[in-house]
Amino acid sequence: MLKQSKLRTQRQQNGIFLFILFILLSTLTLLLSYIDSQLELGVAIYFNKFITSFLIVIFLIQIFIWIIRNKAYKGIKYAIHHYLIVLKLRKAFLDANYYNKRFYFNNEIADLPKVRLEFSDDFLEGKLFIENIKINKSLDEINVSFGLMDYIVERQYLSDNENYHVFEIYDSNIDQQFIFNSIDELQESSSRLDNYTLFIDKSVEIPLHGSLFVGQTGSGKTYALYSLVLQMLCKNVPYNIYFADPKNSSLAVLGEKISKQNTASNLNEIISLLQKFNDLMEKRKTEIKDKLATKLEATYADFNYEPHIFIFDEFASFQTVLQAMEKKKRDEVMKLLSQVVLQGRQLGFFLWFVMQKSDATQLPTYLRENLPVKFVLGNAEKQTYTTAFGTGVDIPVKDFKLGQGVFTCPIVANTPKICHFSYLNFDILEAVNHLKT
Ligand SMILES: Nc1ncnc2c1ncn2[C@@H]1O[C@H](COP(=O)(O)OP(=O)(O)OP(=O)(O)O)[C@@H](O)[C@H]1O
Ligand SMILES: [Mg+2]
Repeated sequence: MLKQSKLRTQRQQNGIFLFILFILLSTLTLLLSYIDSQLELGVAIYFNKFITSFLIVIFLIQIFIWIIRNKAYKGIKYAIHHYLIVLKLRKAFLDANYYNKRFYFNNEIADLPKVRLEFSDDFLEGKLFIENIKINKSLDEINVSFGLMDYIVERQYLSDNENYHVFEIYDSNIDQQFIFNSIDELQESSSRLDNYTLFIDKSVEIPLHGSLFVGQTGSGKTYALYSLVLQMLCKNVPYNIYFADPKNSSLAVLGEKISKQNTASNLNEIISLLQKFNDLMEKRKTEIKDKLATKLEATYADFNYEPHIFIFDEFASFQTVLQAMEKKKRDEVMKLLSQVVLQGRQLGFFLWFVMQKSDATQLPTYLRENLPVKFVLGNAEKQTYTTAFGTGVDIPVKDFKLGQGVFTCPIVANTPKICHFSYLNFDILEAVNHLKT
């Protein structure tokens, strides 16, 4: 026997009503035709006409409702996409018992949350709105991604009025990643942006900010830095980049090429470099002070100052060495770091931390919390996302590829959003040589 626990939706119930109506009317017509033929009244033909028109009107109304519901006025492709996705989602709600119960013409029915779906003109992305119904069940129990055909949830949040769960979706068949086979191609993409904005992929551009890059070994952190550093070298404003690489690995090699005097790999060198960075920031502070008096909310970029970026690869390994030092030294370093993190934005001085994990033992919480931009690359553990973005934040479900991950950035992405750093299919050191000449 079929399981009887599943309720019908209002639409299903309406369908049943219509079906019964159709059967009744058909039977009535047949019956009338029979009586008419027996009694030779000649009225059946009028009755038949009436019933046929009635059914046609109902049919047309149904089509009209379908067109409006699925926004067929935006095109048939739009409507079919809309129809299939909404249908699958409603089925998922029903299967997961995610609804309120209600009476409809004496029948208990399932009142499903309202679903609204909007696509961009090219169907590459869209927004899904699911009504926030009062129910003791989390929406997480429903496999929303399953109903979305080829679309992937990129970001999920509650609308401002809390009436809807909003899902930003995009077509997984399209790749947001840039693939550069030469530095010229990268330069070309970079030339579209202003001097203080960097691109990550085809849809993500971010202003300069203090940043954190987290990811397991091999997730593409250092390559992410390369793609950003190369962009800096392409800009019309000179970028002052500082490289601290306690592991003395590839980033130090790149640093030596770009700016030997601003590259450090052992503890003392790194501390002096930090000191130098701070001194320059203090100098900028006095320079910019008078100008700021004329324009309160302005930053270094408004006065065309050069940005200074201090890149700290493998910060945790620096931290480990530092912990073995005397307290005075540790405090001094932490003071240098926190000064930049707290004051640097307006002055154009930014710290970028790169590490495999960012828990409080490796990066002090007050530093982490004051870094506006955070990337978590590759597939990370839940704990890694929690330390980077905080608790209760939804992370898009996906198998992240090399250089791919999620990030947050003020205004651009207030909740974690998917990004994909450029694939660099050329010799990076050669490219740096090329850009420096
Ligand atoms: N965007 C990319 N373009 C081309 N190759 C890449 C890219 N990202 C990663 N790779 C490849 O993956 C390897 C590992 O990447 P990367 O060195 O950036 O990882 P990582 O996160 O810095 O690792 P670790 O924590 O060990 O330093 C690189 O050597 C490179 O071959
Ligand atoms: Mg690395």
